[in-house]
Amino acid sequence: MAVGIFDSGLGGLTVLDAVSRRLPEIPFVYYGDNAHAPYGVRDADDVYELTTRGVERLWKAGCDLVILACNTASAAALRRMQESWVPADKRVLGVFVPLIEALTERQWGDNSPPREVAIKHVALFATPATVASRAFQRELAFRAIGVDVEAQACGGVVDAIEEGDMILAEALVRSHVDALKRKMPDPQAAVLGCTHYPLMEEVFQDALGPQVKVFSQADIVAESLADYLQRHPDMRGPGEEAMYLTTGDPKRVSDRATQFLRRRVEFISA
Ligand code: DGL
Repeated sequence: MAVGIFDSGLGGLTVLDAVSRRLPEIPFVYYGDNAHAPYGVRDADDVYELTTRGVERLWKAGCDLVILACNTASAAALRRMQESWVPADKRVLGVFVPLIEALTERQWGDNSPPREVAIKHVALFATPATVASRAFQRELAFRAIGVDVEAQACGGVVDAIEEGDMILAEALVRSHVDALKRKMPDPQAAVLGCTHYPLMEEVFQDALGPQVKVFSQADIVAESLADYLQRHPDMRGPGEEAMYLTTGDPKRVSDRATQFLRRRVEFISA
């Protein structure tokens, strides 16, 4: 039954929360690589090594399907993993494709050729590693024609959120939105391409203005996972127990996660 959710740290709890609400019958096993977060400033090889290690641990926990909630891992490691590393009886899926399917008004899993879509100017807010990978633009080009993407690397925001310094996080978000607007004054849509950013969604929306549609991943990923499991019921793994695993200090991570989710969460050592 179990499905794995991988993240570099705590941000993926925003995705875990949404998928657990959408699929309450599934035991989710969460893996937070807190000892090595943030991923957003690491190079692609490093992100690949850490992500494959985490995914192997989730396979051991009985998850045949793992969702990389982490955008940085999805952007910097997923393609390489899918091409040469994931065995035939396992699946690893990322968070960009569902988001782009929603943005381009496609059905889940629709792989038809790219076409013109209503949205023409998209602002992408993500970590430096995600922006450098250009994975979002690549996946978008498979599905849509003529969409202009302006990406803004949001240095410092993840660290501020992980430290619980929301005042600093808000100031940084506002300055990153200003920087984006200098490059693209009138975006129609904004993509929050990092697991941590839904926690700042109101600030992004306020800084961008009400005319900008903000796409946040958690609910979109939950919907597309529900659809995927309906089409591939065999990808529910043998694991039966929901768990929270961390490479960091379980007590510290549990306390932070409890603050994040506003309910008690107990992490154990991965
Ligand atoms: N979880 C990562 C992401 O969604 C952000 C945190 C990090 O930099 O590790 O991109």
